[in-house]
Amino acid sequence: MLHEPFYDPDKTYYENWEEGPFGGFADGVTLPESEPRFDFLGRKISYPFGIPAGPLVNAAFMRAAMEKGFDAPVYKTVRSREKKCNEWPNVLPVDVSGDLTLRQAAAGLTVKDSYAEPLAITNSFGNPSYPPEVWRKDVRELMAYAKGRPGQAVSGMVEGTRWSPDASEKDFIADWAEVAKLMNETGVHSIELNLSCPNEGDLVKRLLCYDAALSATIIEAIRKKIGATPLVVKVSYFESDEELRAFVETVGPLVDGIAAINTISAPVRKADGTQALPGGEWRLKSGICGAPVKWAGLDMTKRLTALRKELGMRYSVIGVGGVTTPADFRAYRDAGADVVMSATGAMWNPYLAREIKAAYPDG
Ligand SMILES: Cc1cc2nc3c(=O)[nH]c(=O)nc-3n(C[C@H](O)[C@H](O)[C@H](O)COP(=O)(O)O)c2cc1C
Repeated sequence: MLHEPFYDPDKTYYENWEEGPFGGFADGVTLPESEPRFDFLGRKISYPFGIPAGPLVNAAFMRAAMEKGFDAPVYKTVRSREKKCNEWPNVLPVDVSGDLTLRQAAAGLTVKDSYAEPLAITNSFGNPSYPPEVWRKDVRELMAYAKGRPGQAVSGMVEGTRWSPDASEKDFIADWAEVAKLMNETGVHSIELNLSCPNEGDLVKRLLCYDAALSATIIEAIRKKIGATPLVVKVSYFESDEELRAFVETVGPLVDGIAAINTISAPVRKADGTQALPGGEWRLKSGICGAPVKWAGLDMTKRLTALRKELGMRYSVIGVGGVTTPADFRAYRDAGADVVMSATGAMWNPYLAREIKAAYPDG
């Protein structure tokens, strides 16, 4: 059953930031905390379930998620300077039946009139960011609140930016290190790097996670700035086993966790064939998430845990993609995920953590 979403797609990102959260996240009910007993990035958390970077746009959303029992919430991606959000709308329902294959995604999808189960949406924000002085104050206040909630782990997600088309690779790496440092100073429990944003437009030709060498250089630069704070990288779906192996061999030893997947990118059109999202042509493609991408998150979870074993590595695996029911959570845990997260499913069901905990009390 779909509830009123806690992030309201009918409002702009800025209205959500100022007025949200909504629906069940605004009911004022705090669920009781349970004993911290699951290891996650150097802490013990109460339960291995959370919300990945996205719908929790600020501390008010993060607090509401924590009060509803999402024990591993991630603060939406931020940058080293202010960046405006892509034009509204940023979320639309799309028409997909069953699994979204990569071939179907390449051919393109059509939007629907309303949200329905199984939930399938596209999202396109362009990873906006308030200026660092705004988000840092917000995260600091969140961390003061989090002190009273020992079984929950707060992560801050960052992304480096080429602030101009002629920015050098050196500038780009320095920007990643800077934004990670800015986040680290807020006292978050861990930092996640978005190596997989599909909504960047012209400045990004290829997802960073598909360039293992540059990803590693960035991580090494960040490590120098953040000391021992646990570091997680968020990646997209890898079609090729060889490419995934090369990525894990290069990046795996440098990080504490790998989160997969981000969205699957697809051209999205209206029924009349025109571009669904307003703006330039670059906005024809956007990220698809929800139930149809579960197969891809599960597949990556299995491959990442198998590679971890084979290569003798220690990173945690954070399974993301298409979790909308307790059974989906179970499937990810059975596939080896240390922690499971839901963005789209949680957005329309603020009680998802409670339902999963009731169905599987032992995780
Ligand atoms: C509204 C919304 C906003 C998102 N924003 C971000 C973001 O800022 N950074 C990021 O790495 N992923 C972002 N994502 C992607 C999610 O973290 C997740 O990887 C993806 O949606 C797949 O999970 P799901 O099927 O549970 O939604 C966003 C997803 C949604 C639904």
